[in-house]
Amino acid sequence: APLVIAIDGPSGSGKSTVAKALARHFQARYLDTGAMYRTAALWCHHQGVDLATAPSPERTERIIELVQTIPVHQDLDPDAQLILLDGSDVTEAIRDPNVSSMVSAVSTIPQVREILIARQRQLIAGSPRIVAEGRDITTVVAPQADARLLLTASETSRMARRGLQQQQESTQALSAEITERDQRDLSVVDFMTPADGVALVDSTELDLDETIASALQAVQT
Ligand code: C5P
Repeated sequence: APLVIAIDGPSGSGKSTVAKALARHFQARYLDTGAMYRTAALWCHHQGVDLATAPSPERTERIIELVQTIPVHQDLDPDAQLILLDGSDVTEAIRDPNVSSMVSAVSTIPQVREILIARQRQLIAGSPRIVAEGRDITTVVAPQADARLLLTASETSRMARRGLQQQQESTQALSAEITERDQRDLSVVDFMTPADGVALVDSTELDLDETIASALQAVQT
């Protein structure tokens, strides 16, 4: 049977790990929408757009144009995540803290979201079974999904998990970066409170296996 699972949550909530685990469990495809916004930001950066300074109308126009024509290929295999940008493998590069700090400048532009949301809906419609994760999947991209989950965790445990994943950064700098990014992202869409009909999984007190088990249980009820 066709199956669409939508998962939202903030950085460090464990949503990527859970989404991949559910995709494997249901032999479904896996769509990381954050990767799409990250790749868009990297593309603008590659094309000489300065994403670190204050926005201007000209810059916004340029970003929209670049996102419209971005030469990207994204693999939907939960076990072989691959993102090709203009033929180069950027799967690792888009996780760089530099990209994380640039991404909101792109993702908060409404026209950029329109373009990427339309692509996300296409990818979901083109896959009989798929798990899609992001910030607005349960509410905007696929509110009609068969199962919808919001993953949360306390700020302290989210920072600790992020710190473990990216040992190169000091925990303090990382916390500041994530808090700032969450703040900017939250101005666009509320991914901290579950919408009507969305199941909440709080992973603060759970280890990875327990989080996956409780997400699976939420999907099956
Ligand atoms: O999930 P991840 O941390 O990789 O997302 C990177 C960024 O992409 C977020 O900080 C946010 O700005 C943007 N994003 C978004 N909507 C989504 C997924 C990600 O705006 N559905």
